[in-house]
Parts: sequence; C-alpha cells; structure tokens
Amino acid sequence: MGPIDELKMEHQAVKMTLRVLETLCRRMEQPGRAVDVRHIDQLLEFFSVFVDQCHHGKEEQLLFPALEAVGVRKEGGPIGVMLEEHERGREYVRQMKSRLSEYKAGDAAAGTGFIREARGYVGLLDQHTDKEDNVLFPIAEKELPEAGQAELSAGFERIEVDRIGVGRHEELHRMLDHLESVYLK
Ligand SMILES: [Fe+2]
Ligand SMILES: [Fe+2]
Repeated sequence: MGPIDELKMEHQAVKMTLRVLETLCRRMEQPGRAVDVRHIDQLLEFFSVFVDQCHHGKEEQLLFPALEAVGVRKEGGPIGVMLEEHERGREYVRQMKSRLSEYKAGDAAAGTGFIREARGYVGLLDQHTDKEDNVLFPIAEKELPEAGQAELSAGFERIEVDRIGVGRHEELHRMLDHLESVYLK
C-alpha cells in the first residue's frame, strides 16, 4: 500500500469514530439515558494520540513539506488551510476534555457544552478529511515522484513507532472494533 492510500485508510477509521461520537452525543441528549463515559474517554484518547499525534503528524511533518517541494502553496493555499484546521481540531479536543471532566465532576450543564464542542469537531474533521481525500491527495498521487512516495512510507512508519508503538496500535484497533460494534451495528 502506498503512503497516500495509508492516509486514506486512516481517514476511514477517523470517520467511523466521528459517527460513534455523534451517536454518543444523541444518547447524552436523551433524558434519563446514561452514557458510558469510559467510551468517551477512549474516543478522546484516539483523537489525541492517533488522529493528532500520528495522522496529523504524518501530514504536517512529511506530506505537506513534500507537497510544498513540488510547488503546492502553503500560505494562502491548501496546505495553509489544512494546518489551520488541524489547529482548530486540537482546540476542540482540548475543550471536549475540559467539558468532560466538569461533567464527570457533576456539572450537568457541562454535558451540553461537551455536545456542542463534539459536534463542532465532527463537522470540522468530516469536511477536512473530505478535502484531503478529494483535493490534496489526488495532487500528491499525481505530483510526488515514486522515490518521494517511498520516502514518505518509511517516514510514516517511523512516526507510528515513535508516537504509538506496535503494541498500542493493536490496542487502539481493538478499541475501535469494540466501539463500532457497540454504537454502529
Ligand atoms: Fe489533515
Ligand atoms: Fe488527514
């Protein structure tokens, strides 16, 4: 599998977790329905570790610089927009974490705040991954030479090992399978 296909597959996993997050938000809104906050913790861990450190790390440290090198614009261009959206995503995750700790501490109103931030994050990442899949990645597939793509693959592998580690990767996959079976089947 080439490096761009790898990123596309990761987007599929991200989109699945966004659907889980939406389902959890809907359940939180139903009066008297308890939600399992451990599942929300697991999602937030996935968003921090897998989405932000690993997936966005691959894009920011390797893919975007490779695209800039073949002439894709950063300032005022698609790469600048992607970077800014990654930053907004980080802020949403910070806010979701804060609202969730307040909610766990007994502040029921923080639940509404959490839902608002969560929906903002879902909207942001849905359109962000769509733009990368439909606009940026086709440019990468067309413009990056084969040697550049091989270099990307090797670099992605290093980021995975550094940021996640093999054992933890397996653990994350099991967690995703579990969440999918609980909320989406
Ligand atoms: Fe991205
Ligand atoms: Fe992405």
